[in-house]
Amino acid sequence: MEIPDNIQKLIDGKPYTSDAIGMSGSKIMIFDNSVLKIVKKQIENEDAVVEMMHWLDGKIPAPKVIACEKDDEYQYLLMSKVAGKMSCDEYYMEHPKELLDLLAKALKMLWSVDISDCPRNRNMDVELEEAKYRVENNLVDMDNVEPATFGEGGFESPQALLKWLESNRPDYEPVLSHGDFCLPNVFMEAGRISGFIDLGDAGVGDKWRDIALCYRSLKHNFDGSFGGKVYPDFNPDMLFEALGIEPNYNKLQYYILLDELF
Ligand SMILES: Nc1ncnc2c1ncn2[C@@H]1O[C@H](COP(=O)(O)OP(=O)(O)O)[C@@H](O)[C@H]1O
Ligand SMILES: [Mg+2]
Repeated sequence: MEIPDNIQKLIDGKPYTSDAIGMSGSKIMIFDNSVLKIVKKQIENEDAVVEMMHWLDGKIPAPKVIACEKDDEYQYLLMSKVAGKMSCDEYYMEHPKELLDLLAKALKMLWSVDISDCPRNRNMDVELEEAKYRVENNLVDMDNVEPATFGEGGFESPQALLKWLESNRPDYEPVLSHGDFCLPNVFMEAGRISGFIDLGDAGVGDKWRDIALCYRSLKHNFDGSFGGKVYPDFNPDMLFEALGIEPNYNKLQYYILLDELF
């Protein structure tokens, strides 16, 4: 990859660190005040994420677009750096009550945004259409799924899962949805949400899409699946207490299963 001149001149000579947390295979360069994310172009129009970031500006704390360029293979997105720590930082893992309250606040912050002129739709039709494309083109990452999803007692194949998802659509509760609401994508600082990052799947979507991924992320960050450290006595169901809502386990499971195809 060759960083386009327009971006290169903005980062020239500045020291940076590279990040390895992301799972999307993108390359991240973290500078003092900015972050460059280099993403391999996919089926979807990468311009959509930039449009969403502009639309989100002033509505929720999120990085601002500084510059964006594309070449045949990659998108180069230079954005502002958000303050604070990832919500999977050790500090928050050791203060689960504070973490849960802030995550509940983060979800409610998204739900309170007026979506009437949101430029991006991630409703069930859009999600299932994209899932279908991924299944048909063998793009499902089978190394990165919950152990019970496929095989013995689970679905026979991604095709079988897709079929089940298509015939078991839950009711739709549209809100502003982050789309990849996992702990490393929500930054916190001093009792507040300092920024939502990784907005490539953000748009109008079902409320339970974010709740489900938040729930799964809490579970795995506390059970040692990431980072190896186990924090006992944590139950992800505590998220519902923090949110003050009853768990809808059907929708929770539906959105976790849907995400297996992405
Ligand atoms: N704007 C930003 N401000 C601060 N840190 C960032 C920013 N963008 C990315 N990062 C860091 O890089 C990591 C990976 O970036 P992310 O956009 O989440 O990539 P991926 O799609 O691979 O998950 C994040 O979890 C975060 O630690
Ligand atoms: Mg991320």
